[in-house]
Amino acid sequence: MLVRILGSGAGGGVPQWNCGCALCVATRSGDPRVRPRTQSSLCVSADGDRWVLFNASPDVRSQINATEPLAPRGLRGSPIAAVVLTNGDIDHCAGLLVLREGGVPPIYCSERTREALTDGLRLLPALGAYGPVSVRVVAPGSSIDVHDREGLPTGITLHPFAVASKAPPYMPFISDDRARRDDLAGDTLGYVMAAGNGPRVVYVPGVRVLDDALRLQISGAACVLIDGTFATEDELIALGASTKSAQAMGHAPLFGAGGIVDFLNGIPGPRKIIVHINNSNPVLWEDGDARRALTAAGIEVGYDGMTLSA
Ligand code: MLT
Ligand code: MN
Ligand code: ZN
Repeated sequence: MLVRILGSGAGGGVPQWNCGCALCVATRSGDPRVRPRTQSSLCVSADGDRWVLFNASPDVRSQINATEPLAPRGLRGSPIAAVVLTNGDIDHCAGLLVLREGGVPPIYCSERTREALTDGLRLLPALGAYGPVSVRVVAPGSSIDVHDREGLPTGITLHPFAVASKAPPYMPFISDDRARRDDLAGDTLGYVMAAGNGPRVVYVPGVRVLDDALRLQISGAACVLIDGTFATEDELIALGASTKSAQAMGHAPLFGAGGIVDFLNGIPGPRKIIVHINNSNPVLWEDGDARRALTAAGIEVGYDGMTLSA
């Protein structure tokens, strides 16, 4: 199975359109110590020919244009056979609107995400005006063979699992009332993916609670691509950019007791790569202390265009 990171940034990317933080300023000026990053997405292929897109970011058009294997086929046609969503966040879904010409590829997502995109964003009804929309709802704990719009198998198998992160911010009736609807029921999914019975790759770009269920999924994998949004719990607060903590935004921080680095240290074996990295995160300085600490822990920092074969 081939895995290619299309976008390694979180919502906003690096640099973010309205951000004057040191990292965004340096990236905008071409500083070699930081890389530009588009928003959160990757693509996966069993045969190197047809690809399954994981999350459709607002940058999907430039990501496709920068990725030779995703170039159009024939007068009208794309090797993108299907789109799999981890949640209904704007950085993971807005790109569906970009894929409207000719009808969006089949969409695999949880029932919670289908509901968010239908009643919250109204994105699915809007897309329906441009062509048929096929949503294939997946349940945590199941096993799914991903098929293209003609019903042909792509060779990619998915095992979705529920992770605690957060409900989409535009669904206030979900996100403000955790007693009524808890976010472990499928607001965010992680995926174990494989080509047939081949090596497994785990994709979890957003996770707030690092639990035994997640540990179990990662333990059996060849590689994990995991949430690297924030280095520390109060990163945006300390920067003066927001009043929200990492946890409040649905993300466990990398560093500190019980953070993602600690958690991964307890899981020897798989290759470990962070994705969905926010533009505030000091690990983006390639010559910085935070980057050195990650490297010492055996964790790689994903980048746009990074390709793995599993
Ligand atoms: C998040 O996952 O919390 C988002 O990347 C935030 C955003 O889209 O701005
Ligand atoms: Mn995000
Ligand atoms: Zn910034």
